[in-house]
Amino acid sequence: MSITINTPDDIAKMRIAGRLAAEVLEMIEPHVVPGVTTEELDQICHDYIVNTQQAIPAPLNYRGFPKSICTSINYQVCHGIPGSKKLKKGDIVNIDITVIKDGYHGDTSKMFPIGTITPHAKRLIQITQESLFKGIEQVKPGTTLGDIGYAVQKHAESNRYSIVREFSGHGIGKTFHEEPHVLHFGKPGKGLAIDSGMIFTIEPMLNMGKRHVKILSDGWTAVTKDRSLSAQFEHTILVTDTGYEILTLRQEEQ
Ligand code: MF3
Ligand code: CO
Ligand code: CO
Repeated sequence: MSITINTPDDIAKMRIAGRLAAEVLEMIEPHVVPGVTTEELDQICHDYIVNTQQAIPAPLNYRGFPKSICTSINYQVCHGIPGSKKLKKGDIVNIDITVIKDGYHGDTSKMFPIGTITPHAKRLIQITQESLFKGIEQVKPGTTLGDIGYAVQKHAESNRYSIVREFSGHGIGKTFHEEPHVLHFGKPGKGLAIDSGMIFTIEPMLNMGKRHVKILSDGWTAVTKDRSLSAQFEHTILVTDTGYEILTLRQEEQ
């Protein structure tokens, strides 16, 4: 296995897949309110992806994952399985969407506050999103994966949060997860030098407490060992000749 350098045709299709994934996050926003269950959100996203977008929800049956989206609440770090629990005021939830359109994957996630949340939770969400963008801003030909990881880690840790190490960003295209692994920690100048035509995700998870995680008995849901709050944002990024293009940018970010 090696790292894919995408052709102009691949890139055109990845732009479409990325836009569709972003549009699912925009579509679901008004539904993410107190009292809704995460399996209701899953159903709405599933129907929108399949019927409106005529695309495929990539998580469904991926390595046995049972639902179409991931929903990770509060101390859940990632890969939460939608279920019958109602969201309540003060919760924070990550919704992670991956769609397949015309054979290509778009992968993106963001945090949703439920009603009014604490200033602590707000700050965690803000710093997590900023950490993602610190990583993205490094992206251009010649940058190393270590430069990206370092930028993310530095912003998180200088704000007294920890970075989860067990999960990373990843190359993406015709397959969901491919080389390279994009770590959210690292050393400047170390690791692979990236080049134009590569497409990968950056998706840092920041914890309010310690970085350590464990997997629940459902085999999927990662949670913080110390039950501290965790947040994550994710974008799919194309390396261009001069820098980067965010394939999953939402209107609120433009
Ligand atoms: N979307 C996740 C990622 O960012 C992967 C989810 S895998 C699943 O890589 F099986 F849990 F859906
Ligand atoms: Co991803
Ligand atoms: Co994802």
